Amino acid sequence: MPGTALQTAALDLERIRADFPILQRHVNGRPLIYLDNAATTQKPRQVIDALVDFYTNTNANVHRGVHTLSVESTDLYEASRERVADFVGARSPEELIFVRNTTEAINLVAVSWGRANLKPGDEILASTLEHHSNLVPWQRVAQDTGARIRLIQLRADGTVDLDDYRQLLSPRTRVVAIAHASNVLGTISNLPEISELAHQVGAVVMADGAQSVPNVPTDVNALGVDFLAFSGHKMLAPTGIGGLWGRRELLEEMPPFLGGGGMIREVFEDRATWAPLPEKFDAGTPNFADAIALGVAVDYLEDLGMPNVRAHEVDVAGYALERLAAVPDVSVYGPRDPWIRTGVVSFNLEGVHPHDAGTVLDEAGIAVRAGHHCCQPLHRVLDVAATLRASFYIYNSRDEVDALVDALNTARRLYQRSR
Ligand code: ALA
Repeated sequence: MPGTALQTAALDLERIRADFPILQRHVNGRPLIYLDNAATTQKPRQVIDALVDFYTNTNANVHRGVHTLSVESTDLYEASRERVADFVGARSPEELIFVRNTTEAINLVAVSWGRANLKPGDEILASTLEHHSNLVPWQRVAQDTGARIRLIQLRADGTVDLDDYRQLLSPRTRVVAIAHASNVLGTISNLPEISELAHQVGAVVMADGAQSVPNVPTDVNALGVDFLAFSGHKMLAPTGIGGLWGRRELLEEMPPFLGGGGMIREVFEDRATWAPLPEKFDAGTPNFADAIALGVAVDYLEDLGMPNVRAHEVDVAGYALERLAAVPDVSVYGPRDPWIRTGVVSFNLEGVHPHDAGTVLDEAGIAVRAGHHCCQPLHRVLDVAATLRASFYIYNSRDEVDALVDALNTARRLYQRSR
């Protein structure tokens, strides 16, 4: 099955690729084929230029000065908060807290909401496919408070088993920690239903949007969740900046996560009172430069149109699923329907360790991730120690899928000969 044109219906790939300087690079003498987007995406020159421009012309601390640069910097920072909040469907920018990444966002909720609300006997439900970042923070707060974690099983196709979820739900359930999309299987969880059921027993829903917000049009109110965490670096922005959206009434009740400058209203010798949202959660000098660049990344995605981003991902990942299924000795994990998953495709080549196969792919200039992808409980269920993962984004083409399949066939031949 040959690759079709570089351009798919939804996106102008040639124009997009020209925006990403790194795609000009060669790796091991071959043009780079970057298929590790679920780990981090590449950055368009618009984002790189915005950072350079900010440091060249504006740089000053935010919310701390009356001088011109500080006012400009503060305006850019808060304008970016508005754009990012709007991107996920928040009703107001005060509901959007800037954080380092998804992990920090979930830790913020686990510590701040969890310590204030969990008690012995309470239950935290998490799915078996959670990334460690939506499990370990809850394990830690469970140890501190006497709450207990219970894992929701998966169906054979890798989706969260809603029957098992219904069985586990009870008045003891206080939190449901759930990935909107799996970083290994790509499966998209039915958050509206999961949230409705959680709310019936009075639980809150902490959704990990790291793998969905970059790819799937997102509206927190339609999803029905209470918290949504995401990372900027997986959606064209720099590293070290991400978002936590939370329902206003919950954020208002929660104690601050970190204490320090910027998050207080008044400080006395032995106590302090807190600033209103969002400053209450903005202790210390925030990462304003990268937050401003995140706003530019959001503009870039909005210009493409998130429905087009999603359609492109479905096209390329769907093609990859089809082609990989036809390679002898390759097992692909997760459902075959690209519309119920995102653009991550995990697989194994029988008899070849994923790290060895990954090295052969690297020889061909192809970047994929090999390992357990921070999902050890899921890999135990899959009964493998590790997988190879190709993850696609807006600049990837069907031609690149063909190159991946060719390189996998090379790995097969190489390792079959050596057996
Ligand atoms: N969470 C990122 C991944 O799955 C790093 O690769």
